[in-house]
Amino acid sequence: MSDICVAYWSGTGNTEAMAQAIGAGITAAGKSADVVPMETISPADLKDQAVWVLGCPAMGAEELEDGTVEPFVSELEGFASGKKVALFGSYDWGDGEWMRTWAERMEQAGAQIVGGEGLICHGTPGADAIDECESLGREVAGL
Ligand SMILES: Cc1cc2nc3c(=O)[nH]c(=O)nc-3n(C[C@H](O)[C@H](O)[C@H](O)COP(=O)(O)O)c2cc1C
Repeated sequence: MSDICVAYWSGTGNTEAMAQAIGAGITAAGKSADVVPMETISPADLKDQAVWVLGCPAMGAEELEDGTVEPFVSELEGFASGKKVALFGSYDWGDGEWMRTWAERMEQAGAQIVGGEGLICHGTPGADAIDECESLGREVAGL
């Protein structure tokens, strides 16, 4: 695996676009990045990584996507202590509650959230959101 894995779930491509921009920021800062759909890896693949970069849009009623992401994150909570975790995702009609809940969960599992309390983007990321994603990538590359 590369220096940093950016693992995301995306139904319609918005969170995927954020993931790709974060990956571009990581490589621009001189580290290698694997930008991968969460369904193609297992939580155990992240066990030895000091930094986790995880993306999921708001789904359900301000929830994580329940088929792949919810079980993946539940398993990660078992060994999240001491990890640095950057979270990101796209949303539409809500106010970011799903991301606040996700960040709190990871903190309660002993992780340190980096890059603010989770990078959220309304709908399809525009140029400003892509810039924020690239900045987050550069930040995590420097950890
Ligand atoms: C089944 C479903 C549930 C959703 N639930 C929420 C929600 O609770 N809050 C919200 O702000 N957006 C919600 N959305 C909107 C998505 O988060 C939004 O369309 C997002 O841009 C999708 O990102 P993606 O392209 O990465 O899948 C929901 C969308 C779907 C399809």
